[in-house]
Amino acid sequence: MQPDIITHPEPVRWGVLSVANIGVERVVPALLASSNGQLVAVASRNPHRASELFAHVPRVRIYGAYESLLEDPEIEAVYIPLPNSLHAEWSIKALEAGKHVLCEKPMAVTAQQGLLMVEAARVHDRLLMEAFMFRFHPQILWALEQVNAGRIGTVKLVRASFAFNMLLLPRPHNIHLQADLAGGSLMDVGSYTVNFCRAVFGRSPTAIAARVYKPDDSQVELATNAVLDFGNGRFGLIDSSTDLPSRQVAEIHGEGGSISIPTPFTPGDVDVEVILSVEGQTIHQHIARVDQYRLEVEHFGACVRSGTPPAFSLAESIEDLATIESIYRSAGYPWPIGS
Ligand SMILES: NC(=O)c1ccc[n+]([C@@H]2O[C@H](COP(=O)([O-])OP(=O)(O)OC[C@H]3O[C@@H](n4cnc5c(N)ncnc54)[C@H](OP(=O)(O)O)[C@@H]3O)[C@@H](O)[C@H]2O)c1
Repeated sequence: MQPDIITHPEPVRWGVLSVANIGVERVVPALLASSNGQLVAVASRNPHRASELFAHVPRVRIYGAYESLLEDPEIEAVYIPLPNSLHAEWSIKALEAGKHVLCEKPMAVTAQQGLLMVEAARVHDRLLMEAFMFRFHPQILWALEQVNAGRIGTVKLVRASFAFNMLLLPRPHNIHLQADLAGGSLMDVGSYTVNFCRAVFGRSPTAIAARVYKPDDSQVELATNAVLDFGNGRFGLIDSSTDLPSRQVAEIHGEGGSISIPTPFTPGDVDVEVILSVEGQTIHQHIARVDQYRLEVEHFGACVRSGTPPAFSLAESIEDLATIESIYRSAGYPWPIGS
């Protein structure tokens, strides 16, 4: 999936819903640095804080209610980094207001919610994309190209892990640990591993076996382990944790070789390498540093300007949501939690 970057003299005018950490730290800086985007407004339940955080952005408008931002006729595209449980509601409201929507991952809580979002995008003729930024990094594109070119033969096993210790973060009301906001390790970091397996095999799993770890004093699961069966002896082995030290794994094992991506999901702004082992040879493919968030927003902006659907498809997003639901169901974990 090669993002199609088109620069255009008229930048896409963006609004952002909330001062979420991921927006402030990554996506808004990427948007400000982008070749085709302009930050017009931010809405927050705490407009004073938003004013302080975005004081460095010339002429940015600050709204004290999300609805007010959606009523701003100048805004063309909205970035939504709200808690998972609010993605569907606010994406649909934004689409109904005539805005294009880049919604954080996972796109919704259930596939059913995701389908409502897709339908709203269709009815209002606006673009919708899930913000899986790692899919725009050249290291992932290169690895998938090798798979699709048959470099390692038929893929039989994908291993993907993503862990970090959320409990160490100084966040008193961490959204990822709250049931009513659809937290949980699979919803947070595990969603990357689900997406990666599906991207490699090009389809959803046909069967799933899974277990979760949810201590009595936690509202949500803190670890998920799953076997995804893609048929004909092809498997995905995934694990996610929010109570282990940081760890990322993405390995693709084919009948003729393997590919390993040492920092697959959040490589940071550094040079990276992908390791291809085939026929007794090991190739270290060097990939120069990029800002994958900037590639993501530039791709979406280019799609808005050209009217073409994003390279990262909604069909994939919906299938990933269905897989997440199946994993939880297999583990006997009530989902949506609290229902
Ligand atoms: N792609 C990535 O690299 C990446 C990384 C991390 C997270 N994410 C995703 O981004 C989303 C946000 O994650 P985050 O860790 O950045 O979140 P966060 O810092 O906790 O921010 C969430 C924001 O949502 C708003 N909000 C509205 N209703 C809320 C409620 N009832 N409780 C708490 N906050 C509420 C708040 O903004 P206001 O007070 O300003 O209204 C809050 O700042 C999640 O969907 C997550 O999966 C993506």
